[in-house]
Amino acid sequence: MASPASISCLLALFLLLRPHAALAVLHRHRFPSLLLASFNASEPPTTFFEVDRPIRPPRGSVGPCSALLLSHSFGYTYGRPPVTVAYEPPACLAAAPGSLALAVLEWSADCRGRQFDRIFGVWLSGVELLRSCTAEPRATGIIWSVSRDVSRYVALLAVPGEIAVYLGNLIDSTYTGVYHANLTLHLYFHPAPPPQQPQHADLIVPISRSLPLNEGQWFVIQNSSDVRSKKLVIPPNTYRAVLEVFVSFHSNDEDWYMHPPNEYIEANNMSSLPGNGAFRAITVKVDGDVVGAIWPFTVIYTGGVNPLLWRPITGIGSFNLPTYDIDITPFLGKLLDGKKHDFRFGVTNALDVWFIDANLHLWLDHKSVKTSGSLVSYDAPALALKVDSEFRALDGQFVTSASWHVSATGWVKSSYGNVTTTFYQRFSYENINVYTKNGTVQVVNQTIDAKSGALSRSGIVLLSEEVHRVFPLYIFSGTSDQVGDEYSLVSVVKIGFYERRTSDRKLKFSYSSLRNVQSAHGDMRVKKNLVVDGLGETHQMYKYADTDGCYSRYVGSRNYTIIFYHSGDVCSKGPPHVGPKLSAMKHT
Ligand SMILES: *[C@@H]1O[C@H](CO)[C@@H](O)[C@H](O)[C@H]1NC(C)=O
Ligand SMILES: *[C@@H]1O[C@H](CO)[C@@H](O)[C@H](O)[C@H]1NC(C)=O
Ligand SMILES: *[C@@H]1O[C@H](CO)[C@@H](O)[C@H](O)[C@H]1NC(C)=O
Ligand SMILES: *[C@@H]1O[C@H](CO)[C@@H](O)[C@H](O)[C@H]1NC(C)=O
Ligand SMILES: *[C@@H]1O[C@H](CO)[C@@H](O)[C@H](O)[C@H]1NC(C)=O
Ligand SMILES: *[C@@H]1O[C@H](CO)[C@@H](O)[C@H](O)[C@H]1NC(C)=O
Ligand SMILES: *[C@@H]1O[C@H](CO)[C@@H](O)[C@H](O)[C@H]1NC(C)=O
Ligand SMILES: *[C@@H]1O[C@H](CO)[C@@H](O)[C@H](O)[C@H]1NC(C)=O
Repeated sequence: MASPASISCLLALFLLLRPHAALAVLHRHRFPSLLLASFNASEPPTTFFEVDRPIRPPRGSVGPCSALLLSHSFGYTYGRPPVTVAYEPPACLAAAPGSLALAVLEWSADCRGRQFDRIFGVWLSGVELLRSCTAEPRATGIIWSVSRDVSRYVALLAVPGEIAVYLGNLIDSTYTGVYHANLTLHLYFHPAPPPQQPQHADLIVPISRSLPLNEGQWFVIQNSSDVRSKKLVIPPNTYRAVLEVFVSFHSNDEDWYMHPPNEYIEANNMSSLPGNGAFRAITVKVDGDVVGAIWPFTVIYTGGVNPLLWRPITGIGSFNLPTYDIDITPFLGKLLDGKKHDFRFGVTNALDVWFIDANLHLWLDHKSVKTSGSLVSYDAPALALKVDSEFRALDGQFVTSASWHVSATGWVKSSYGNVTTTFYQRFSYENINVYTKNGTVQVVNQTIDAKSGALSRSGIVLLSEEVHRVFPLYIFSGTSDQVGDEYSLVSVVKIGFYERRTSDRKLKFSYSSLRNVQSAHGDMRVKKNLVVDGLGETHQMYKYADTDGCYSRYVGSRNYTIIFYHSGDVCSKGPPHVGPKLSAMKHT
């Protein structure tokens, strides 16, 4: 197992033990929060936030009916069992689960002192509901909250269960921050059941580790040959199945997209540096067949690159990590025999450590006890991965490119008819990693392009969905002015999460489009791997539009202060939003 300290979003304590050299390649860019020698204790806490669109209850719905699920202070919690509490469906939900319009899970927390950013997960009966990273506190205190739409878990929310939260924190005389958190469920209802309700799964099966255990319920993957699996029985009357995967990367693979190939590390005798090149992919197998993959978004946690960049605007996805859906309906024919089937996760080129688990969303045929099906066609060629290396001593250039696709078609016959479903994914990836100035400057420019789609037909097309995600990333990291154990680091980060979804469900067309991009730069003075001085500035453009309206924000922050804030909420057609109002956060 990794050392206790490594189980932060960033692995910083681990680094502190290593001597460092004045090399961008050697500085692993992992830092806890700053602690100023003197501070004004009566100053109000700073509100941190991730720029995101509000979660709007559907028109005409009523609520919220809110229930506090858990309130806990996470002090010395590393390597201890998750905090658990019995879950009873709130009375308002138990009375009318069929008219639920929206369910929102809200995490709100505060912290004061110095602490690393910590990864945490929230599970209900083993089904993961939220993967998140804490904000790093400051002496005067911080508060933040994150909300996730959990409507798709209505089948689970409507029955008793057990909530588990794992946030592995460490407390000592230096790292004093205790995270105090509340977990609340907000529910909205349709006064009368609407004619067209989204069809959420009837059953959600966890593919995670079972309690009791002394850690999160995620699987822990430590290298490229380490695969983790669970065997499950699928109800024999299932007619649709979608796997929702949660992924986060830490410690030696936290900044995998900046890693050089091993040949560079070996040639320069830097065996303590993490390598394996800059390409990673999660592969999901069912009974040995690759059913899909995840080429993950490069989430930068709140202590990443230069922690001053993420105050108080946090990195895209860091408070609410993206999840990835893989439709396995074409394979159902092989899974309806009432026997156990093997669901397996692995990570190409992985270094220690990846946290992965999944929720299997199943739709059941209530009018029959048995559906049947068959896989008709399946294509999953080998990964095409190419690395062009050119280097002399510490300077060099590495160009890594990869592409892959999978496609499967199968039919399932239920009382709803004989439906043929095709699911496909197409990925491409390029990473250019350049070291100059004797390895003191590193520039990485990477793009991941991921397209997936599902098409279901039974004579006519019943459902056609496509999701196209593009993740551009540019990082400049330059080290200079090394004097003894002190050095300066200049950083530039441009990171984007672009997503376009189209859906045609029984001739009802909908689309959504998101362009979410951050541009950040900063410098800092580091002494003994602690940030002693510095400045960070981040600008973020968030533009979202869908069939019902749109939402945009243009926000800038510098050194804990919002420097500008423009909102373009004018085109929204929905009612006022749920959750904290960003406008209230201007004066932090
Ligand atoms: C401390 O902060 C409070 C609230 O912001 C302010 O009124 C007070 O003047 C500050 N004191 C000092 C010594 O700066
Ligand atoms: C948690 O809830 C309690 C009780 O309502 C409240 O006093 C406290 O301030 C809340 N803490 C956070 C971090 O939201
Ligand atoms: C990979 O990790 C697993 C699990 O920790 C371990 O048993 C195995 O020896 C490791 N393999 C290599 C090649 O390091
Ligand atoms: C790496 O170590 C080997 C063996 O100790 C030595 O011959 C070589 O010169 C070293 N290379 C560099 C770049 O320091
Ligand atoms: C369902 O449809 C597929 C494709 O049209 C066909 O090959 C299959 O035999 C049908 N299954 C049944 C049980 O009718
Ligand atoms: C390049 O860096 C290495 C390792 O820090 C150092 O030994 C070497 O002297 C440097 N070369 C130049 C030209 O600065
Ligand atoms: C990254 O590379 C892409 C494609 O080569 C290029 O269009 C883009 O301008 C580069 N980005 C930066 C910030 O240099
Ligand atoms: C950034 O904020 C810190 C803490 O408020 C302050 O001490 C420092 O002087 C500020 N730096 C700049 C360049 O504004």
